[in-house]
Amino acid sequence: RLGLTTKFIGKNLHYEETVDSTQKIAHRLAYDDAPEGTVIIAEEQVSGRGRMARRWHSPKYTGIWMSIILRPNISLPKAPQLTLLTAVAIVQAIEELTGLLPEIKWPNDILIKGKKVTGILTELEAESDRINSIIIGIGINVNQTKEDFPSDLEQIATSLLLEKGETVSRADLIKGIFTNLEKLYLLYLEEGFLPIKLLWESYAISIGKKITARTLTQSIIGKALGITDDGVLMIEDDHGKIHHVYSADIEL
Ligand code: BTN
Repeated sequence: RLGLTTKFIGKNLHYEETVDSTQKIAHRLAYDDAPEGTVIIAEEQVSGRGRMARRWHSPKYTGIWMSIILRPNISLPKAPQLTLLTAVAIVQAIEELTGLLPEIKWPNDILIKGKKVTGILTELEAESDRINSIIIGIGINVNQTKEDFPSDLEQIATSLLLEKGETVSRADLIKGIFTNLEKLYLLYLEEGFLPIKLLWESYAISIGKKITARTLTQSIIGKALGITDDGVLMIEDDHGKIHHVYSADIEL
């Protein structure tokens, strides 16, 4: 139906009208040995999940709400690399299809003119240090109008329609994401994270700037130096001390 040209991403595609969360279904499919590249996509989620136990607003027919199962043969600490890789694939697909120029806010928010258009939630199933499956949840605000956003999101979120001024084809965008994701993922498996890291840094906004990183337990203020080879954010505080941040919310 999408006319896919990918070898494995999206070949096994589960399409649903309404679900609680595509992440939840993907976990079940992954547990039942679904092949790598399996995608579950829904028109609407009634309890979409965001990072840090937040909710993800997923109204009907307007966005792309999907989860992708990957099974890379990598160790646990490398898992964040796949989130960064996915962000690059999405930025490129949006750029190719709409001409808009999205930017990445570490680790995985995609913004247009400072407002969030895409969120990525990566969850894993692992045994000791070995990854069994990575479930990449992608939420993209595509054709929402202003009225479609609840008032608390109005200031911080946007959609491709609002930024572009015209409707954007969700099918074309999904196709573009699958194609780019597969290409980058194969490059990653062959050559490692470095080429991905360079691409990621070219789209990142926070690097070189003074930021505040709020983790669950503390706030770190300092200059974002860049990411390590594992995708961990490095921040230098005013005393010259370098902090490694694995998970946080960033304020610019
Ligand atoms: C974030 O907090 O920025 C991440 C949001 C991720 C939302 C997507 S929508 C598809 C998938 N299913 C979910 O329940 N969440 C992710």
